Amino acid sequence: MAKTTAMVTVLLLLLLLSHHPCYSTAASPIKTVVVLVMENRSFDHMLGWMKKLNPEINGVDGSESNLLNTTDAKSPRVFFGNQSHFVDPDPGHSFQAIREQIFGSNETSTKPPSMNGFAQQANSMDPNMPQSVMNGFQPDKVAVYKTLVSEFAVCDRWFASVPSSTQPNRLYVHSGTSHGATSNVAALLAKGYPQRTIFEDLDDAGISFGIYYQNIPATLFYRNLRKLKFLGKFHPYDLSFKNDAKNGKLPGYVVVEQRYMDSKVEPANDDHPSHDVYQGQMFVKEVYETLRASPQWNETLFLITYDEHGGFYDHVATPVNGVPSPDGIVGPEPFLFKFDRLGVRVPTIMVSPWIQKGTIVHGPNGSPTPTSEYEHSSIPATVRKIFNLSSPSLTKREAWAGTFEAILQTRSKPRTDCPEQLPNPVKIRQGDANEDAKVSEFQQELIQLAAVMKGDDILTSFPVKIGKEMTVREGKEYMEDAVKRFFESGSVAKLMGVDEEQIIKMRPSLSTRSSKPQTRIP
Ligand SMILES: *[C@@H]1O[C@H](CO)[C@@H](O)[C@H](O)[C@H]1NC(C)=O
Ligand SMILES: *[C@@H]1O[C@H](CO)[C@@H](O)[C@H](O)[C@H]1NC(C)=O
Ligand SMILES: *[C@@H]1O[C@H](CO)[C@@H](O)[C@H](O)[C@H]1NC(C)=O
Ligand SMILES: *[C@@H]1O[C@H](CO)[C@@H](O)[C@H](O)[C@H]1NC(C)=O
Ligand SMILES: *[C@@H]1O[C@H](CO)[C@@H](O)[C@H](O)[C@H]1NC(C)=O
Repeated sequence: MAKTTAMVTVLLLLLLLSHHPCYSTAASPIKTVVVLVMENRSFDHMLGWMKKLNPEINGVDGSESNLLNTTDAKSPRVFFGNQSHFVDPDPGHSFQAIREQIFGSNETSTKPPSMNGFAQQANSMDPNMPQSVMNGFQPDKVAVYKTLVSEFAVCDRWFASVPSSTQPNRLYVHSGTSHGATSNVAALLAKGYPQRTIFEDLDDAGISFGIYYQNIPATLFYRNLRKLKFLGKFHPYDLSFKNDAKNGKLPGYVVVEQRYMDSKVEPANDDHPSHDVYQGQMFVKEVYETLRASPQWNETLFLITYDEHGGFYDHVATPVNGVPSPDGIVGPEPFLFKFDRLGVRVPTIMVSPWIQKGTIVHGPNGSPTPTSEYEHSSIPATVRKIFNLSSPSLTKREAWAGTFEAILQTRSKPRTDCPEQLPNPVKIRQGDANEDAKVSEFQQELIQLAAVMKGDDILTSFPVKIGKEMTVREGKEYMEDAVKRFFESGSVAKLMGVDEEQIIKMRPSLSTRSSKPQTRIP
């Protein structure tokens, strides 16, 4: 009898252990984490149909639908399709639009959320749009992801941190909070968000980081990254990324930023509608193949996620229970959002030779708290584990977010069978970029950031004229000029011996282009 009890206890313990996420204290094999945040696409839209390839993936089968009018049962029902291609215009993804998509109305008490207002919200913008948002790519149309999902890990339960637009979500990626932002406020973006970031935690621990940017580094929305001492962390992607990877010189924490501006010669590759997903696929392919060929490959984790769902349908109810506010800051009027629920599910893919082929990560399984989920704060939380940082979590949200370092610790040796090349994706958009188009809201924000980098934010033309009235071509030129001047001025300030803790602020360029760069120290 005693023996049986002992046996049962042992079995129970074994069971418990096998269900418990691995709290391994062993050193992580990862020394380089590469993060790429794409733009505005939901999980079901990009990866939902991959369920056909692996039924374990929580994707779609075409039975998912929304009524065109949530309060009229007789209104047409729009089913989720498999014909996504090129999307223009851009579906709604403001705080209000997303509330309607998730809850079907402005009533947010329904638990779990019904996820039934996507078609209705889209219909209020354009009668052709419901079909666009209730649609996903066939796996062969996103062949790069198809391969990565089958070769490495896909997370089918990773949510945007805020049910709102790009900037608040991007802020969570490296800091575990948006510091109260639920939308984009030009003045605040210009000033830069003040919260501490994972970059500083890494820097303090002596771990290097680097940002490889293309048009402009959106990471400069963090005010602290504008400190003189961090300027050397920014590298032009085209000139440096492949070289650094080839020479085994990639830093510990790497952010690759894509081209946000669409031009004929250099098409945007951020997947933001109306940009061509083909270009985004080409970019992911390039980053992967570069890492795969690097001597650092055996110590690398490459994470691809999306800032938010961009208005596209997803069938998984967004978490509304037990989500902690990161820092107690309440969002602005009229919503006074308490940051107590997450945004829509987005695609996330984890790539490393330490990951078993075909891994599917469903959720953090009640760790570190029963309500914990994967969301963008899982990035700093996991980075903290991988690098064994002794600093505390950046925010309460980061402390709550699930971490996934365990999927990198199931093997004793890295895989040797990872593909060296990914398939060539199919072209989706017919024709070229429209450089004469007016800039999108997201591009406006980036132009406003450029204005700050140039000092033009104190001109009366900011933010309306600078930003809102430019074409994509003008915006791109303005931005690239601003970035050049900013980094040049920084170098000058460094040579002049300016205190490296200072945040760089520029005086407006006014009319002269050749004037010596000036740095004003507040
Ligand atoms: C992590 O850091 C702590 C000290 O902060 C140390 O005691 C521990 O051994 C480290 N773990 C690993 C795996 O390096
Ligand atoms: C949706 O249906 C309700 C109830 O039938 C109706 O009052 C409302 O006008 C409809 N909304 C739209 C946008 O058609
Ligand atoms: C796409 O959906 C249609 C309609 O449900 C179906 O007939 C077709 O087989 C699907 N195509 C693929 C490639 O799954
Ligand atoms: C919610 O919608 C209803 C009906 O459209 C409207 O009367 C009400 O003012 C809205 N409430 C909020 C908080 O926006
Ligand atoms: C990575 O590790 C594998 C297995 O140990 C080894 O065969 C391979 O040469 C290593 N690759 C690099 C780039 O170090």
